[in-house]
Amino acid sequence: MEPVLQVKNIAKEFPGVKALEDISIDFYPGECHALVGENGAGKSTLIKIIASIYKPTRGEVLLDGKVCNFKTPKDALDAGIAVIEQETSIAPHLTVAENMYLGCEPKQANGLLDRKKMEADSQSVLDEMGLEIDAHTVCDTLTAAQLQMVEIAKVISKHAKVVVLDEPTSSLSEKEIESLFEQIKKMKAANTTMIYVTHRMAELPIVCERCSIFRDGLKVAEYMVKEVSEQTIVNSMVGRELGAYVKPEHTAKEEMLRVENLCQKGVFENINFHANAGEIVAFSGLVGAGRTEVMEAIFGATKVTSGKVFLYGEEVHIKDPADAINRKIGLATEDRRRTGLLLKKTIQENVGLPNLPFHAKKGFVNVPWEKETSEDYMEKLKIKAPNIQALCGNLSGGNQQKVILSKWLAAGVKILILDEPTKGIDVNARAEFYALMNKFVEEGGCIIMVSSDMPEIIKVADRAYVMSEGHLTGELARDEIDELHLISLASPVSA
Ligand SMILES: Nc1ncnc2c1ncn2[C@@H]1O[C@H](COP(=O)(O)OP(=O)(O)OP(=O)(O)O)[C@@H](O)[C@H]1O
Ligand SMILES: [Mg+2]
Repeated sequence: MEPVLQVKNIAKEFPGVKALEDISIDFYPGECHALVGENGAGKSTLIKIIASIYKPTRGEVLLDGKVCNFKTPKDALDAGIAVIEQETSIAPHLTVAENMYLGCEPKQANGLLDRKKMEADSQSVLDEMGLEIDAHTVCDTLTAAQLQMVEIAKVISKHAKVVVLDEPTSSLSEKEIESLFEQIKKMKAANTTMIYVTHRMAELPIVCERCSIFRDGLKVAEYMVKEVSEQTIVNSMVGRELGAYVKPEHTAKEEMLRVENLCQKGVFENINFHANAGEIVAFSGLVGAGRTEVMEAIFGATKVTSGKVFLYGEEVHIKDPADAINRKIGLATEDRRRTGLLLKKTIQENVGLPNLPFHAKKGFVNVPWEKETSEDYMEKLKIKAPNIQALCGNLSGGNQQKVILSKWLAAGVKILILDEPTKGIDVNARAEFYALMNKFVEEGGCIIMVSSDMPEIIKVADRAYVMSEGHLTGELARDEIDELHLISLASPVSA
């Protein structure tokens, strides 16, 4: 079998960073080839080189045996290489159909846009994928998961030779993941070459035939997925044996937050819960259950219709996020690129951001404090970047997440709300992150963690609430938190 796509001796250097050193991989038709590795290992960089978004420092990309000399990503796409990047590139103000045909709109004989054909073709791809999305919808009304599916629909409609997916499942629900896997199967059957990046090891045997393991810009191994265990893959990723995570015992202390009958019309209803100092309280459920919305409301980012919020037993009315931060509440949002980080700012500036009100001197930013603190967190959380002056937009996904955590830890918050905190975080960094969460609650903080990753909830939560379709469906004590309870409470109750 001849490879369709080849990368040969690829190296990529950014100022101060060797992102890739000498990577060679052959990609075969009808096969899905996984790229796995820790955060910052270089997976997305290789993908951007394949897509002609970046030029490699050395090495070449070959399509059907011929060296590619693409000038722009559009050239690569026209040659049949379609890439879905880690973070969505959908234009929010355009409709689904307009996004799907952006840059290659069907034309009528007179040269004008053939809107009818564009909309009909888009709709038929969406329908065939089993998505309940109307091609006329403006994209900013869609959820993160729906946007991801639109990106995939866009690629499918192009009948590309090579399809690259960079962490496609990190914001999808179980049902959407299933539908995506179904699409991947179909594309493989049509002899498409697939490249797939994921941090979810369990997905490898389901979707991939081969996998290449990246470590610090090098390819350290290539396996046939069938022939190796998950443990082997993880060990070669990390470069050592990763010990099992032991869940520590926490002792819950005084109540910090209580929520009574919180309602937001049409979004969630009658939410009652509390969270204590010294514990990690999890919110489990399916994507779209309303957990993010509850957290945003508590943080003052949206208004509630009715209900009460108490801090340390006293009723409070949190006006807006600034007010929440003043009261030592932090919210690390799920969508880090839209609401979590200023991508054009440095690590130092991002870490300093929520701290401005406390540390600014006479209206000036306290630069020495910012510097020292961000350096401190960079080391503690092992943020991979040349220095604290690195722009957050240039960091790998997992490292961006660590900057978000640093900024809240540095702000000295007491109640930390984490919405899908380990989305896109590699196995090793996850273990480090859990250790940091444990330390935070052991020092008297309280963590409320929204997660759609069940094994994660089982691993870290001291107590868990489950939500389904805007309602709280149950509360589980530490020893009741298992897959069976979580699934049965999360399932939508059919009327
Ligand atoms: N435009 C850029 N400028 C400077 N450095 C960059 C740029 N893009 C990537 N890097 C650096 O290159 C390295 C590899 O990053 P890359 O995004 O490829 O990692 P990744 O394997 O995709 O990680 P993740 O799993 O977190 O997404 C990182 O150290 C990153 O900070
Ligand atoms: Mg990446």
